[in-house]
Amino acid sequence: MCGIFAYLNYLTPKSRLEVLDLLVTGLKRLEYRGYDSTGVAIDSPDSKNIVMVKRTGKVKVLEDAIKEHFSGGEYSEPVMTHIGIAHTRWATHGVPCERNSHPHRSDEGNGFVVVHNGIITNYNDVKTFLAKRGYEFESDTDTEVFAKLVHHLWKTHPTYSFRELVEQAILQVEGAFAIAVKSKHFPGECVASRRSSPLLVAIKTKSRLATDHIPILYGKEIRPHGQTRELPVLPRSDSTSEFMPEEKEVEYFFASDASAVIEHTNRVIYLEDDDVAAVRDGTLSIHRLKKSLDDPHAREITTLKMEIQQIMKGNYDYFMQKEIFEQPDSVVNTMRGRVRFDGNAIVLGGIKDYIPEIKRCRRLMLIGCGTSYHSAVATRQLLEELTELPVIVELASDFLDRNTPIFRDDVCFFISQSGETADTLMALRYCKQRGALIVGITNTVGSSICRESHCGVHINAGPEIGVASTKAYTSQFISLVMFALVMSEDRLSLQQRRLEILQALSNLADQIRKVLKLDSKVQELAKDLYQHKSLLIMGRGYNFATCLEGALKVKELTYMHSEGIMAGELKHGPLALVDDSMPVLMIVLRDPVYVKCMNALQQVTSRKGCPVIICEEGDEETKAFSSRHLEIPRTVDCLQGILTVIPMQLLSYHIAVLRGCDVDCPRNLAKSVTVE
Ligand code: F6R
Repeated sequence: MCGIFAYLNYLTPKSRLEVLDLLVTGLKRLEYRGYDSTGVAIDSPDSKNIVMVKRTGKVKVLEDAIKEHFSGGEYSEPVMTHIGIAHTRWATHGVPCERNSHPHRSDEGNGFVVVHNGIITNYNDVKTFLAKRGYEFESDTDTEVFAKLVHHLWKTHPTYSFRELVEQAILQVEGAFAIAVKSKHFPGECVASRRSSPLLVAIKTKSRLATDHIPILYGKEIRPHGQTRELPVLPRSDSTSEFMPEEKEVEYFFASDASAVIEHTNRVIYLEDDDVAAVRDGTLSIHRLKKSLDDPHAREITTLKMEIQQIMKGNYDYFMQKEIFEQPDSVVNTMRGRVRFDGNAIVLGGIKDYIPEIKRCRRLMLIGCGTSYHSAVATRQLLEELTELPVIVELASDFLDRNTPIFRDDVCFFISQSGETADTLMALRYCKQRGALIVGITNTVGSSICRESHCGVHINAGPEIGVASTKAYTSQFISLVMFALVMSEDRLSLQQRRLEILQALSNLADQIRKVLKLDSKVQELAKDLYQHKSLLIMGRGYNFATCLEGALKVKELTYMHSEGIMAGELKHGPLALVDDSMPVLMIVLRDPVYVKCMNALQQVTSRKGCPVIICEEGDEETKAFSSRHLEIPRTVDCLQGILTVIPMQLLSYHIAVLRGCDVDCPRNLAKSVTVE
């Protein structure tokens, strides 16, 4: 998904080359979000114009182009105040090409340049409006209309400030966006805003900040969006309060997420929908035209706890590989401060006040997309068992398509690593409007899902940078298991079962370490499989979710066909696929469905299938069915899915490497899917 990065230095001398370096590094940190083209804009050496460089492909291509373009000594001269903006684009309107890459400009003179994340849904109306006034368009994007709209407003309202111009423009556009705007008419200023797409402002000063919040300024009047025909203009606000740093020298960063700024500063403000953040003369103000009753008076400056090492690859070749190997620690972090193994107690601080209400609910609904949805499938059976409530799992997109009935006494869980997935967020808003209790399960503090939930569990898996989700899955899984344990705390009949699960949780990190030792064996297996076209993954019960998740990992990373098959369904169709050449992987563990899984195994081997088997350590009887097996340690049935998914993560990773695929950024995919 697109990434925005902007950098403003105020009275902190930096050469344009240094600024470009910062912009490129910022874009590199955002690469994991997925993108297909890039671009930057800075001031020309005489500061009278704006220079842009855009490229299709990776940030590295842009970096090389920048080196070529900005070689003159004039770019090494320090400038006291300057604003540079940069972007990684993930195509939505118009193919990936330089013409469609951001920044987009308002006119040939580059009066205003814009970077944008999201989709402006009424861009055609705005385009028609502007075309009638003589504007010509040079790209196929929705973004370009924004730059030209600001320009039109500037021409028609020459006394307006930069912030006011952008504010007027965002009132005319509909859809989702995060934007940052730079202008040669307002040198040293930057204006940024968001609606449904994430954006933060980070502040860097030499000494500690004297305040931990920024007051919000409110305009006087609310006007509906989408009035492009008339373009009514709002009365100007006369509010003046704002954030002024103690010292004059200050640097500001605008970014789609914290990974791009953390190496510069840990002080950030997460903007809310319709906030307009503007920097002028080194002073940041946050402005809103709409004021609703529950609006806070200020935006907090958050101190990020994330460290730079957390977002770097360390000794691993790929982020995904690093994240797979982080799982012994990430699962412990998910449980830290929540599970007390000595007293067998669990406290989920973020939802504890809501537990009585949850216990009285009609049903639990677990909603998510992709891997996050699979964590719901993986834990559904345990939730049914320990809560004794109906548990419904839903793919967010399908849930919305069906206009599913939702009641005030429903409890709806929204599971999302990024906390920004558009379908999941839309489903959340749909359920919230209907009065359900909203529980967010996310990995991203300050994300939209976090903020819009009534309560929630932060999974604490640490930043996940590889586009394919790995450690977030196991941490989502554990979070839902912990919730099930909390819900059954006072059920006498379930105490033995709870103890068994708690005991297994306490061994989990060591068992994951053991499974990770299978890495070289899995790599050998990958060598057998990587040239095939397809891989069928079969299992049932607690391991069906692993089949779905394993198949998703194989598809997204290796571009091979793969299917997760419920072993109970074999005879109803999929068995026809099995012969001596079809690669099959089967999960057969000693749990209540063991006999049924063995049945399926026999059905496959009697069709000359030669499956790879994931089985329990020392299970000779099962191993006898194939020469290729991966043995995992024994654990309680409901946690098996955590141990069985790890070989699948490793397998897809190794196949992807062997096939020469881009492991961290699979083609056509984005880390944070902020469009429906
Ligand atoms: C697959 C993957 C995706 C995400 C899905 C939801 O590896 O990462 O399927 O799980 O796009 O994303 P979140 O969890 O951020 O809502």
